[in-house]
Amino acid sequence: MAPITADSPEFDAGTFRHVVGHLPSGVTVVTTRTPDGEFGMTASSVTSLSLTPPMMLACLNRSSPTSRAVSRAGAFAVNVLGEGHEHLAQQFAVHSDSKFAGVAVLDGTLGMPVLADALAHIECEVVEEVTGGTHTVFLGRVVDAKAEEGSPLTYFRGGFGRFEFARDDAVYQQARQRLLERMYAADAVLQLDDLAYRLRVEKSAAFYALTRLTADGLVRRDPDRGYVIVPFDTRTSDETFDAPCAIELGVIDMVVGRVPHEELANLRSRFEAMAALLVGDRFVDFDRYLDANYAFHEGLVSLAHNGALTAAFGRLSIKTVMTRSFGVTPVTSEEFVDAQRQITNGVEQGDGDAARAAVYRYTRLAKQRVRQILAQTGGRL
Ligand SMILES: Cc1cc2nc3c(=O)[nH]c(=O)nc-3n(C[C@H](O)[C@H](O)[C@H](O)COP(=O)(O)O)c2cc1C
Repeated sequence: MAPITADSPEFDAGTFRHVVGHLPSGVTVVTTRTPDGEFGMTASSVTSLSLTPPMMLACLNRSSPTSRAVSRAGAFAVNVLGEGHEHLAQQFAVHSDSKFAGVAVLDGTLGMPVLADALAHIECEVVEEVTGGTHTVFLGRVVDAKAEEGSPLTYFRGGFGRFEFARDDAVYQQARQRLLERMYAADAVLQLDDLAYRLRVEKSAAFYALTRLTADGLVRRDPDRGYVIVPFDTRTSDETFDAPCAIELGVIDMVVGRVPHEELANLRSRFEAMAALLVGDRFVDFDRYLDANYAFHEGLVSLAHNGALTAAFGRLSIKTVMTRSFGVTPVTSEEFVDAQRQITNGVEQGDGDAARAAVYRYTRLAKQRVRQILAQTGGRL
């Protein structure tokens, strides 16, 4: 078999990074201790290797000081990060002499520094080191392992996310549908027991649904009343459209004039896919349009290759707000597509002013359209 080299004609590094980014993973911090001090690095290339004997493997770049320290120490700890630990993943992904600053650390069985807040800890003794490309694959015999209750942090296409069980997601979708169909009055209290009873599900699944609905901005947690249905009004709409506008303006500042050809082509094809779902002043298929519209704007944000920005964009309730407003009527305006075409053209032509003006125009149009829809429905949805 022909050896795989860094300059194989089939793949450039950018294509490989993009494709392999579709493999989701958990996120860990691999830590170790040597006489020179504590070391740690964010690593997703960590996996269980064998059950008997219990073994793990970790693939660490040879140029990283942490990798060299693991080699010297002959031991390492895998700290599995939990939901909400993005800050730890980011802190340990940048080389610095104060990586552990502000991080609660305990001593593990092998004397490894283990992160006190991690979801799980697995301490290993290195039994073998194998070289693979730029990395050393450390094979470790597990000496101690502990796990806490909680959900993991996940990593997919350059952004952090959270894990969810498919069964819980189905319950969330049902609960969301009930809200979007306005089965509850605005500002009404949504009881956990009542929701669980009506959906015929466990309370834990109903609780998960309420947590997601809160993150979507459909429900809010009132300290006195519990979960309350958030009324949809112009303020909610304005805030929701202003937030992606600010992110997109920032991204345009960062990237315009420097976007590689294939990424421009990707943005253009996302635009075309979306534009095809709007004919004249009507949606061909609202749900598909919604997904395509979201994919277009997410594509624009991801041009920055900044996981934190892409994740922040993902957390905005854009789809929910669009469903609660534009989804109420099949009628829309071709002006939206026109503004998005100008965004695409501006980015393609390296014309930041034109792209920025088009982002402002799109935001203004979206806010105006929601006002019109609200006026037709008595001011609240
Ligand atoms: C989500 C994520 C996963 C990563 N996974 C790995 C990995 O598996 N192996 C690796 O060598 N570097 C990985 N890195 C990069 C290292 O964390 C980064 O190079 C770090 O600065 C190395 O620390 P050091 O240079 O102080 O040793 C990852 C970074 C991120 C953000």
